Formats: sequence, C-alpha cells, structure tokens
Amino acid sequence: MSMEVLRSPIMVREALFPQIMRGRSVGLVPTMGALHDGHMAIVRDSVMENDLTVASIFVNPTQFGPGEDMDKYPRDVDGDITRLREAGVDILFMPSAADMYGEGFSTFIDVGPIAARLCGAFRPTHFRGVATVVAKLLNIVTPERAYFGQKDYQQFLILETMARELDMPVDMVICPTIREGDGLAMSSRNAYLSEKERSVAPVLYRALSSAAEALKGAEASPAKAKAMMEDMLRAEPLADEVQYIGCYDPHTLQWLEEFSGSALLAGAIKIGPTRLIDNVLVWK
Ligand code: PAF
Repeated sequence: MSMEVLRSPIMVREALFPQIMRGRSVGLVPTMGALHDGHMAIVRDSVMENDLTVASIFVNPTQFGPGEDMDKYPRDVDGDITRLREAGVDILFMPSAADMYGEGFSTFIDVGPIAARLCGAFRPTHFRGVATVVAKLLNIVTPERAYFGQKDYQQFLILETMARELDMPVDMVICPTIREGDGLAMSSRNAYLSEKERSVAPVLYRALSSAAEALKGAEASPAKAKAMMEDMLRAEPLADEVQYIGCYDPHTLQWLEEFSGSALLAGAIKIGPTRLIDNVLVWK
C-alpha cells in the first residue's frame, strides 16, 4: 500500500475502518512536521510493531502561547512526505486548523497539576493544547499504539496519564531521545540556532549527563546535582536564560529531596532566542 495523504478526519476514518475491522493493528505517530532522524526512529518503531502506521503533521495552534514561535515554526512538507513514504508509513494525516478546530471550538482537556510544573510554569496553556489535540488524533485514528519521544518527557507523562485516566484504549509508547554526535537532542527547533549558538547548544545535555553520573555516586544529592548543572550552564555565556534545571520525581515531577530509586534530570534553557529542553532518566 503506498502512502495516502489525507486532510480530513472523516477520510482517515473511512480509510482505516475496513482495516481495523479486519483486525489489523494501527500505530499513530503524531508530529508537527519538519521531521528529523529522531522522528524517523519513532516512525520506524511504529512500522515495525504495527500492521499499519499513521503519521500526522499538524502545527497545533492551541499549544502555542501568545508571542511563541507558531508562525515561524519550521516547515518542510515535501521533505517530510518523502521521508514518511520511504519509511513505510501507510497514511499521512495532514489536516488544516479548520479541519481540526471548527468555528467556536470550546472543549479542552484539563491536564492537572503535572502540567503546571517544569515547562508548564513557563508555557501555562501549552499542555492543555497538546492533550486536546492528541485526544482528538486518538479519537480520529483509534490506534492500538501511539508513539512519542522522550525528549518531551513531561508531554509523555501528561498524555499517558490522560489516556489511563480517561480509559482510552491505546498503549502510549515512549521512544528514546535521538542525539546529534555531540549530544544535542534532535529537535525541529535546532534549525533556529546560528552556527555559534549550535556549537554551544550541547551544554544542556553535558550538564544533565554529568549530573546523572554524579547522582549515582555515594556522596551526591539532588541539591548537589542541581548546583553542578547550574555551574556548568553559568559557564556558558550564550546560555543566558535558564528557565529550570533540577532533579525531579519521574512520576509526579516534584522536586526530589533524596535520590532513592529513580530521578528525572531535566532542564529548559534559552540560547539566544531559541528555547531548548532535554532530560535524562537515572536509576540507582
Ligand atoms: O511533540 C509534538 O510534536 C507535539 O506536541 C504533538 C505531540 C505532535 C502534539 O501537537
């Protein structure tokens, strides 16, 4: 089956219904396009684990706040279509904003306290927009599995909680962060970095991974690990804004007082105008 590009939710349902009735499993990979090797690794997992894979490309207006980068978000539709076709995707769902949000759209998922922490403290309406659009995509596609990247760990935690608490019949799958050779997590937003900014951008991952190593040592505490990461970031003049950095409980995203079992080391920094996030999970 060669890849179909469909724009309306009804067309996606009509294409999938006979397949699902025949017992074929569907994997969904939601994206905002400008696909990089990190997305493609996720697509490969879905193609391997399901009979059919649906990828979506939709730059979702409800997850961007005022003054954020919605209008200049990187786009490469032709390149994306080629990559998805070559990877064996069966259906590309590429709706317009009007297809997804009819006039007067007013229903949103209320995502609870984990959405107010970390990135949520700086992007207060972001996760309700993400949860709402992903709920819509899950309802349109009705996949057996949906795939997300670990770089957006908080997003995954919120979406997994949503699916569990709202009894959505889907397995939410988290896929490892794919990195450039120097450690920088792949992200469509890396395209915003100037050459100079790009050369210093791995500082966030260096800080997170050094602190992760330290945290496994006998002497280290979450407070020491946080101080260590702050020092490393402070030493990089182009990383001029640290929005948050620290050690958190991977389930509640609360600040960790003590490292006893597992920890999420996570941070968001700005390099020039570009906001970068990353995280590392550590187990004792
Ligand atoms: O991670 C993303 O690209 C987006 O937040 C998602 C999950 C596609 C929802 O718009």
